[in-house]
Amino acid sequence: MLVRRAYIPEAQRPESFGTWPYTVPCVAELAERGLTFTAPVTMLVGENGSGKSTLVEAIAEGFKLDSHGGRAGRKYVNDRPKTPLGDVLKLETTPIGSRMLTGPRSRRKGFFLRAETAFGLLNTVSGVYGYWDEDTSTMSHGEGFLTVFGAMFRDRGFYVMDEPEAALSFESCLKLVGLMHELGSSGAQIICATHSPILAATPGADIIEVGEHGTRRVKWNELDLVDHWRRYLADPGLYLRHITE
Ligand SMILES: Nc1ncnc2c1ncn2[C@@H]1O[C@H](COP(=O)(O)OP(=O)(O)OP(=O)(O)O)[C@@H](O)[C@H]1O
Ligand SMILES: [Mg+2]
Repeated sequence: MLVRRAYIPEAQRPESFGTWPYTVPCVAELAERGLTFTAPVTMLVGENGSGKSTLVEAIAEGFKLDSHGGRAGRKYVNDRPKTPLGDVLKLETTPIGSRMLTGPRSRRKGFFLRAETAFGLLNTVSGVYGYWDEDTSTMSHGEGFLTVFGAMFRDRGFYVMDEPEAALSFESCLKLVGLMHELGSSGAQIICATHSPILAATPGADIIEVGEHGTRRVKWNELDLVDHWRRYLADPGLYLRHITE
């Protein structure tokens, strides 16, 4: 583990939670109590707009990961200002995490994969020496992603991902689970926002459900997401009736 907790120092907390991002329940909770990480792999799940991206983006910024979706220790397109939450969020690190965070940039390992810029990342770094040998420009979207993941998951670093499943098939998602699990077992840490029941099932992952309630730990079996998928796959008509009638 590299990061144990994310929090907002008392002096940085706003007096009222009336403006964004504090209007998002999970952010208000983070401001009040912080958010602890208990396992090498943390999965954040929850409805659209529940605040997952707001959280992971700020966490990535807290570890000084490139918020355009790049690799730590290497600066190529990090020209945007921090997000409002990233501005005030602090990370409580383990000794190893702390050495990575405060040491020279080259010692910082890991990366931030943003859902919206993931494809841009592929283009930015394809062909850049030292990332991967394969030419990703001749691969399909999903193939390229898996190649990038495989190559970038080399170090025991801090990996923040926002919906990495977007381009991936069922089988590719399984491969990504394998990669993440291996990475988590090697001393790296992953924080991943996802809508995928496959990724959420990564063995040993701590699953945090984000929503109106703020955040809560939920077992995979008891996730709303999993329940919906189970029912839908068993009988799509149950859901589609409400949509098409
Ligand atoms: N820059 C911004 N200014 C104001 N509100 C914002 C901003 N960015 C996001 N929001 C709002 O904050 C809330 C949380 O958004 P966020 O993108 O974190 O959700 P999410 O859980 O990642 O959703 P999704 O599953 O659709 O990716 C939403 O209501 C969104 O409209
Ligand atoms: Mg999001």
